[in-house]
Amino acid sequence: MAKPGNAMVILGATGDLTQRLLMPALYRLHVLGLIGDLRIVGYALETWSQERFEQHVHGGLSKFAEGFDARHWERFRQRLDYRHGELKAEAVAALEPHLAPGTLFYLALPPSLFGQAAGALGEAGFSKPPRSGWRRLVVEKPFGSDLASAMKLRQDMHRHWDESQILRIDHFLGKETTQNLMVFRFANRFLEPVWNAQHVEQVQITYAETLGVEKRAGYYDRSGALRDMLQNHLMQLFSLAAIEPPSAWDAEILRDHKVEVMRSVSKLTARNVNRHAVRGQYAAGKSGRRRVRGYREEPGVANDSRTETFAALRLEIDNWRWQGVPFYLRSGKRLASNCSEIAVQFKRNPGALPGAVSADPNWMVFRIKPNQAMTLLANAKTPGLELDGRQVRLSAPYAENGDSGFSAYEQLLMDALEGDRTHFLRFDEVEWAWRVLEPVLEAWKKGEPEPYAAGSEGPQGQHRLLDANHAWRPVRLVAGEDD
Ligand code: BG6
Repeated sequence: MAKPGNAMVILGATGDLTQRLLMPALYRLHVLGLIGDLRIVGYALETWSQERFEQHVHGGLSKFAEGFDARHWERFRQRLDYRHGELKAEAVAALEPHLAPGTLFYLALPPSLFGQAAGALGEAGFSKPPRSGWRRLVVEKPFGSDLASAMKLRQDMHRHWDESQILRIDHFLGKETTQNLMVFRFANRFLEPVWNAQHVEQVQITYAETLGVEKRAGYYDRSGALRDMLQNHLMQLFSLAAIEPPSAWDAEILRDHKVEVMRSVSKLTARNVNRHAVRGQYAAGKSGRRRVRGYREEPGVANDSRTETFAALRLEIDNWRWQGVPFYLRSGKRLASNCSEIAVQFKRNPGALPGAVSADPNWMVFRIKPNQAMTLLANAKTPGLELDGRQVRLSAPYAENGDSGFSAYEQLLMDALEGDRTHFLRFDEVEWAWRVLEPVLEAWKKGEPEPYAAGSEGPQGQHRLLDANHAWRPVRLVAGEDD
C-alpha cells in the first residue's frame, strides 16, 4: 500500500498503451533511479489477480523495454499493485488505500471514457489534494473529436478537476526534436534575424509513416488523419516553429505564445477549404517489398469507409512576422517511408553571383525520423578551376556519442510527476486547434478522400495546396538523405 512519496494510478492498466509505452517508460526511469519510491497502481475491468497483472507487465517489458533484466524486474515488480473495477465512484473508491500524498492519475483509456473516468475519480473525492500533497490527472489524446465535444469534455472534467491539475498529453512535446526546435531557434543568434517573412519562403512540416492502421481500426476509422495527427501533433510543431520568443521560460508564457500563433491563422472558410486542405486514403500497394492491402480492406474498416489516412493543410499566419509565408502540414499512413521533419526554405538570393555560380535557396531542416538531425542546405564552390557552385549539407546528428536521450513518454512522465506543465497542452491550445480545423471537418463530411497507392508519396491532390514555385520535399528522398 502506498503512503510515503508518490503514487501513479493507471486507469486502463491492461491496455495496449500501458503495456507498450507507459510501463517501459516507468521501468527505464526506475532503472535510472529517477522515480524514488513511486508506487504504480494498475486499475482496469479485468478481474485479474496481482500475479496475473505482474505476468502481463513482465510480458510487455520483455518485449518493449530496452535492456530488460531479471534483477531490475524483481525490484520494479515490488512497486506494482492491481485493482479491478468499473469506472464508477463506488468502485474506484477502493483505490483509496493505494493513494499517496502526491498521486498522479493516468487515463490510459479510450477517449470516449475520459469524461466518465475523471468524473468517477472526482466523485470518489480523489481530485482534492491532501494537505501538502497533490493530485493530478493525465489525459491522453484526442481531447474531443471536434470543437463542441472538446468544450463538453472540458466542462465535464472541470466539475471536479481544476485546469492546473489536468495534464493533456501530446507525446510530440516530449520528443527531443520538438524541444530542440525551440532551443535551436532561440539559442542561436544567427537564426532569429532571418526567421520571418522577409527571408522565409515556405515551411513544410511532414510526418510520413509506412505503417497502416494496424490493429487500431476501431479508433482510427472514427478519427482519421486530420484528428489523429494534424489537430494535435502537427499543430504543435507548427505553432512552435512560428512562435515569438518567450520573455521567460515559463509554462504559461510559452502556451500563451502558441495560442497566439493559432489565433493568428487566416481563417479557413467553406469557400476556401479546397485550396487549403487535401485528404487521401491508401489503396492496395507496397510497403517495402511486401504487398499490402488498401485501407478499406483492413480488418475492422468498412468497405466504403470515407476516413482519410492522409491529410494536408496550407496555413497562413496573419501577423507581422509571417504575413504571406505558407506553412504546409501533411501526415499520412502507408507512405513511401518513415520520414518526418520540419523544413524551412529561405528566399532566393537577390542579385547576380560571380561567374556561373548557381545558388539554390537554403533549407534548414529539423529531422525527427528516421534519424534526429539538423541540416542546413547551403551553397558552396564546387572544387575545380571554374567558379561553379553546388549545394552542400551542413549536418549535425542531434545526439552525440555518449548522450543519453529520453523517450517522449519518459520525459513527459517525469514532468507530470514533478508538476511541470510546460510540455502539456492547456485547454485553449486544444480549443484553438479545433477552431482552425472546424471548416475542414465540416467540408469533409461530404465527398470522399482521394485514393493513393500504399507505398507512394500520397495523393496527387496535395500539390494543389502549393504556390506555383513550391514543391513538396519528396518523402522518399528525404528519408534517403542519411547523415
Ligand atoms: C499517435 C497517432 O498519436 O502518433 C498514431 O495516434 C501515430 O497514429 C503516432 O502513428 C506517431 O507517433 P510516433 O511517435 O510513434 O512516431
